[in-house]
Amino acid sequence: MNGMARLPQGRPALLLTAIVILTALVGQVRAGATDVFEQNRKLGRGVNILGYDPIWRARAQGRFQAKYFRLLKEAGFNSVRINLQPFRGMNPTNGYALSESWFELLDWAVHQAQAQDLRVILDLHEFTSMGSDPATNKVKYLAFWRQLSAHCQGAPESVLFEVLNEPSGKLTPALWNEYLAEALAIIREKHPTRAVIVGPGYWNSIDHLDELGLPAADHNLIVTVHYYAPMDFTHQGAAWANRKDKLGIEWLGTEAELDVLRRDFDKAAKWAKQHDRPVLLGEFGAYDQAPMESRVRYLTSVVRAAEQRGWSWAYWQFDSDFILYDIGRDSWIEPIRRALISDASPSTSQPSSKRTLSKPGASQ
Ligand code: BGC
Repeated sequence: MNGMARLPQGRPALLLTAIVILTALVGQVRAGATDVFEQNRKLGRGVNILGYDPIWRARAQGRFQAKYFRLLKEAGFNSVRINLQPFRGMNPTNGYALSESWFELLDWAVHQAQAQDLRVILDLHEFTSMGSDPATNKVKYLAFWRQLSAHCQGAPESVLFEVLNEPSGKLTPALWNEYLAEALAIIREKHPTRAVIVGPGYWNSIDHLDELGLPAADHNLIVTVHYYAPMDFTHQGAAWANRKDKLGIEWLGTEAELDVLRRDFDKAAKWAKQHDRPVLLGEFGAYDQAPMESRVRYLTSVVRAAEQRGWSWAYWQFDSDFILYDIGRDSWIEPIRRALISDASPSTSQPSSKRTLSKPGASQ
């Protein structure tokens, strides 16, 4: 009888305990909401690396060496965005499997970065294939995320995933929302709280943020945008942007030029605030044929504008073109390094295609 009598009292008690536990659990998951801003803050100042390095075809031909991770750290960078183009090694005959040697190289790069306390973004940089034939390449895209997710299970939180660089072309903003949801669902099976980076369609353009559809319940997303405006300045001399002979364009940092930058970044910041998402400026830069003084002025202004808004950033890129480091001479392009990492920049402590396709304005 007593037992029977206690039961109705015990149930609410049990229910209460369950509610307390559940609230704590939900709280932990939601803590990711705050945490992802911290994750983004820790990305801080980064550089894009390894994207077009022959190392992926033949390890011995690699340009990027282990010591560059140390040099990046010593120079004051906090993270690297590793641009991955794995599709060429994936085919139907092997079930789209990524090879052992590909994973070995990836692990080498990740471990070297970790040894220098650099955070790592694993960026699927297959935007050209995905933009020209999304339907055909979808199988590789999803197979990639399935395998990378499995491979990185247990990786520290300092390893972040970026679903796809610059969705563009036939991968329209609407279609991209579907593709990103599918990849994210695969990633979340094994990485429920890892910080995942995702950006808007149309080459991660600020102007297309409004079309980006993110799962509202996922509080561990960092939103990325790329910034190369004005294209006539940043891509002067670049053949793939139809600007091979259009050289000598300056960026003087006039009020009008700064105004454009401020307006563009404010637009992204407003969107981010409304949607409660942290922002990574995942690519920006000016081609190495642009006048050096203008490049320095431009980069200083872009970095300052990003940091003032509490964004992390990653410069495009270490080697190849737009370069920050001259591998042949084994030395920094000093003015670029100083423009990116200067005392004048406030700290990050506050919370437009490749070759065949072209970024916004590429043909103007
Ligand atoms: C592309 C590069 C290009 C850079 C600037 C990157 O996303 O992968 O090929 O040079 O953007 O346009």
